[in-house]
Amino acid sequence: MLEVQHLAVNYRGVVAVEDISFCLDPGEIVGIIGPNGAGKSSLIKAILGLIPIERGIVKFRSRALSRQLGEVAYIPQRTQIDWDYPITVQNVVMMARIRHRSLFNASSNQSKRIVQEALKRVAIWELRDRPIGELSGGQQQRVFLAQALAQEAELFLFDEPFVGVDKKTEAMLFEVFDELKSSGKILLVVGHELRETAREYDRFLLINKKLIANGSHSEVITPKNLQAAYGDNVIFLNRISRSSMEGGQCPP
Ligand SMILES: Nc1ncnc2c1ncn2[C@@H]1O[C@H](COP(=O)(O)OP(=O)(O)OP(=O)(O)O)[C@@H](O)[C@H]1O
Ligand SMILES: [Mg+2]
Repeated sequence: MLEVQHLAVNYRGVVAVEDISFCLDPGEIVGIIGPNGAGKSSLIKAILGLIPIERGIVKFRSRALSRQLGEVAYIPQRTQIDWDYPITVQNVVMMARIRHRSLFNASSNQSKRIVQEALKRVAIWELRDRPIGELSGGQQQRVFLAQALAQEAELFLFDEPFVGVDKKTEAMLFEVFDELKSSGKILLVVGHELRETAREYDRFLLINKKLIANGSHSEVITPKNLQAAYGDNVIFLNRISRSSMEGGQCPP
């Protein structure tokens, strides 16, 4: 189980995450939703210990997560990746195997086989020798998914994996998520409102600095909670979605 207790982050005095607590069980896919600037990425980074926290505890299987980061696969938000870094697709995925290599097991055949399987699983085997920067957005997301698979982690943190991917890649991501869920992994996925894909998640955390709601889609997506998270913008969003359902008219 992943336990996050009273996590708080601020950047030079400006609060980004305020006293957030929740638990995740093995075999759960949980979505984090909230507006831009709500602290979703900061929350993920704080869980991983990538940014200093002001307060809070993060435990995995009752021990500090910071001491077992090898158990975590993290896929950052696309905007935070340096796409010009000169590295091939295959080597990006191979990086996931570093923690598995012992001194007597240099570049093991087992690691090579696992990397190959991961590249094939997400249909980018043919692209393995290409520099990562030359791939399309959807292909790049699949490379990072392959990297997460090759790491054989227990806990998966994805920050907006669906941005810039087409329906086919989205479906592949969910297929892989389901496989991971079935094998008892924990998945925490930052998304937006996820209206169409809501059924793929077991639970949602709605945040805007604080945790506003934690529960099923119908428990979390209520007018009261959306107002608390998005403020007056939610009225505008509702108008757009209603009018688009009524035949693609522009909102008045
Ligand atoms: N490195 C940083 N230094 C200072 N402030 C930061 C830094 N990173 C984020 N912030 C601020 O912290 C708040 C939360 O940012 P964060 O990136 O976590 O939000 P988010 O929910 O992931 O947003 P988005 O949906 O746009 O990705 C914002 O107000 C942002 O401006
Ligand atoms: Mg973000």
